[in-house]
Amino acid sequence: MTNKTRKMLVTSALPYANGSIHIGHMVEYIQTDIWVRFQKMRGHECHYVCADDAHGTPIMLSAEQQGITPEQLIERTRAEHEQDFADFSVNFDNFHSTHSEENRELSTLIYTRLLEAGHISQRTIKQFFDPEKEMFLPDRFIRGECPYCKTADQYGDSCENCDRTYSPTDLINPVSAVSGATPVEKESEHFFFKLPDFEQMLIEWTANHLQSESANKLNEWFEAGLQEWDISRDAPYFGFEIPDQPGKYFYVWLEAPIGYFASFKNYCDRENIDFDTFTKPGSDTEMYHFIGKDIMYFHTLFWPAMLQGSGFRAPTNVFVHGFLTVNGQKMSKSRGTFIKARSYLNHLDPAYLRYYFAAKLSNRVEDIDLNLDDFIQRVNSDLVGKVVNIASRCAGFINKRFDGQLSPTLSEPELFERIAQTNIAELYESREYSKAMREIMQLADEVNQYIDENKPWVLIKEAGREEEVQAICSMGLNLFRLLIIYLKPVLPDLAKQVEEFLNIDALSWSDLQAPLLDHEIKKFKPLITRIEKENIEAMVEESKDNLESSESDTAITTVSNELSSNPIANEISIDDFSKIDLRVARIEKAEHVEGADKLLQLTLDIGGEKRNVFAGIKAAYDPAALEGRLTVMVANLAPRKMRFGLSEGMVLAAGPGGGDIFILTPDDGAKPGMRIK
Ligand code: 2FM
Ligand code: ZN
Repeated sequence: MTNKTRKMLVTSALPYANGSIHIGHMVEYIQTDIWVRFQKMRGHECHYVCADDAHGTPIMLSAEQQGITPEQLIERTRAEHEQDFADFSVNFDNFHSTHSEENRELSTLIYTRLLEAGHISQRTIKQFFDPEKEMFLPDRFIRGECPYCKTADQYGDSCENCDRTYSPTDLINPVSAVSGATPVEKESEHFFFKLPDFEQMLIEWTANHLQSESANKLNEWFEAGLQEWDISRDAPYFGFEIPDQPGKYFYVWLEAPIGYFASFKNYCDRENIDFDTFTKPGSDTEMYHFIGKDIMYFHTLFWPAMLQGSGFRAPTNVFVHGFLTVNGQKMSKSRGTFIKARSYLNHLDPAYLRYYFAAKLSNRVEDIDLNLDDFIQRVNSDLVGKVVNIASRCAGFINKRFDGQLSPTLSEPELFERIAQTNIAELYESREYSKAMREIMQLADEVNQYIDENKPWVLIKEAGREEEVQAICSMGLNLFRLLIIYLKPVLPDLAKQVEEFLNIDALSWSDLQAPLLDHEIKKFKPLITRIEKENIEAMVEESKDNLESSESDTAITTVSNELSSNPIANEISIDDFSKIDLRVARIEKAEHVEGADKLLQLTLDIGGEKRNVFAGIKAAYDPAALEGRLTVMVANLAPRKMRFGLSEGMVLAAGPGGGDIFILTPDDGAKPGMRIK
């Protein structure tokens, strides 16, 4: 172990402030948190910061649709995010927001320095403009027919059917996803960051700093040629106005990475840490960004170039990971594998996922799979069956027969030394967590074997052999303590329970050096329980039924809640339409649903037959005002099992969402059960 204390600034990517954290995001936060905890246990000065990524068009429009201000939206999301991270034991030293004074100041400073150094250019470009909404449309908010394969309803930048990319102006029959209007082309003045100015610097930086897979990717980009980058957006935009350019805003991706510095600055000011030491060039501090492979371009080209061009230090390294699949496939809402952090936490101990991800992660840019059967098997066999089992096999004897007292000497010092000197640290340092977990489990096997061979449960029955039993169990608990030191970056909460049980201070890496002797431990309490299949099933079920996030599942609305989805659905034939059985229904009963933010439970009468339906209209209606009213429902929709019960149909409603949803009411003279043709 090096004696020199390193000084490090570490970040994870900033989550968008308009969506929930899911277990795919958690891969990165857990990966980073493990690394940071390891560095801190080694005695290094390591600061881990993050923030919500709060600006941009999707957040602005999402707030508008919900009938709240962007500030309200990002505040609400921030509270949710912080709680999710805390409950997964992701221990940021600071969690801030890009919508902050620090970020405004730093973005302005970096931009101004780039401008003064001649790295910003300016020219007029043509873009699609929504004449109804009076705003320029980002590519993702334009839909139309693919110019190549002619598939309908594709995004403005790429086709999901043939995978080809194009410019939005190439789309056939484009429509605005915001208003449904036909966009028109309009000119506007934009500002560009001159990335090609930094080609040489980036080539050198890449060669010295990146994982080989990232370096290869960058070489492809260098070969393709670096382009100037459009860093401005027109009003209306939720973000920071560009200095001296009224109506022009910094593109969210310009100031999002600056948010790393903003969060760090906010923390430095509070904790009296010198910001410049970590952010100026020339000092021996280190700066690392953990990111997913989808945002490499921003972090390995724009960001280092912007930093260099504005007098800041470039990152020491950018650690890129792959995506998460569940049961070998992309996470899916219909399969119940699109699992939000909160849905996981509602059913399972976060330690299980932290361990499982660690057991899967390497330092390569490769996807990892969460196979739910393997997850149960692996966690139960490794953590419960191997690690915790050691303590439960030894602690009882020490607690009951020796008043909690450990022996004054180690009976097998060589075994202790060998386990204490296993090079787990190097594996953590190089982010080879799966190798580290494998090694640790092999050590756990050896410790269990040691106990098996020495059989304290047999010896205790033989007269005069108590001291031997105490020595074996003290040895077992000392080896257990070593394994817990190794696992502590991954399982901090388990380690804390062990520290209490062993009656010791917080374990750090240097505690590997000496055993715990002649010491009184506390009573052993079970440390971790097995994963039960029912809990996994309940989590998957909740994820399937999680209609709280998607009102479109509970009531048809004219404006979709998901901004990225279609303004106009795929065309259906009259035959398809005639399959829908629309009935007049009388709302007999309308009630609040405990634990649901958006749903009302409706008992509908469709002419003698009763239906139970959950509708996402709580923000729009007081239940009492609905009782007795007639509405229109889809009567032949397959029943869906939801978190709150079975929903047997769908009530039709229209409106932009939130409090503005209006259930459809048939004309006078309608009777419950009548079919609408
Ligand atoms: O891709 C994303 O989720 C972005 N919000 C990540 C931003 S990371 C950093 F650049 F701010
Ligand atoms: Zn296509």
